[in-house]
Amino acid sequence: MGPQQLYELWERQQWQSQGIDLERDKDHWAALSDEDKEEHLWGLSSFFVGEERVTTQFSALVMAYEDEQEEAFLTTQQVDEARHMQFFDRYYREVMGLDHEFIQDRLRAVREHVTDSFVELFDERLVNMARRLMDDPSDIEAKVDFITTYHMVIEGTLALTGQHFMLDYYEKENLMPGFAEGFGNIARDEHRHVAYGTWFLQQKCSDAGLRRRVQDVLGELLPLAAGVLVPPGYQLGDEYEFFGYTSRQQAEFAYAALSRRLKVIGVGLPVAV
Ligand SMILES: [Fe+2]
Ligand SMILES: [Fe+2]
Repeated sequence: MGPQQLYELWERQQWQSQGIDLERDKDHWAALSDEDKEEHLWGLSSFFVGEERVTTQFSALVMAYEDEQEEAFLTTQQVDEARHMQFFDRYYREVMGLDHEFIQDRLRAVREHVTDSFVELFDERLVNMARRLMDDPSDIEAKVDFITTYHMVIEGTLALTGQHFMLDYYEKENLMPGFAEGFGNIARDEHRHVAYGTWFLQQKCSDAGLRRRVQDVLGELLPLAAGVLVPPGYQLGDEYEFFGYTSRQQAEFAYAALSRRLKVIGVGLPVAV
């Protein structure tokens, strides 16, 4: 699907972050053990802070549209990211009891749970890519780098992997139905976003120079992204469990999902990864 079809799909797939019933989630959250709460706090904080980061940095890409269909789709994605941040904010406020007055105060409190790899990817690499694109929105190499980082690594590899395992866990355990509903909607939005990124890179990667750029950015960022999936207290390469799944299962899922998309784009995975 191209940007026009994805825009039309967005119109059909609307939802309200403020309209989901969270009442049963409050009891479920209160009944979790301290250990389970810790795991949730880490998993959810990466998404909450991540959604805030991508919402603002996305402005660079909106400025870099090449035609009106792409312009229309890109503005929908930016609204989606703001809606995702709003959903997490509401969840922290109403279910987890972080009753600060403003979103920024809650974000500051939640940031204590994110790891160094997360900070490097979202606060440094992504922000630098966005600045380069904002400096010259017609710079197609900067746009390819940004979309590889944002749509392939952050959304296609990290977000969709975390969402897959967490949603599976909530469904199996019959836990936190309000969160599962909102997070399911977010995952559906992310699939639309990743479809745009795949379409864009497929168009551009008939050019050998741009194809190499995609590979170079992946080669540089995938080891860092692998670190973002590692919970606090563990190192990359350690065996651990996340929401009942092993680190190996997570890595295999992420690798398979990325490989599938790269095949569509026509780019091989970098050899070192
Ligand atoms: Fe998002
Ligand atoms: Fe997204």
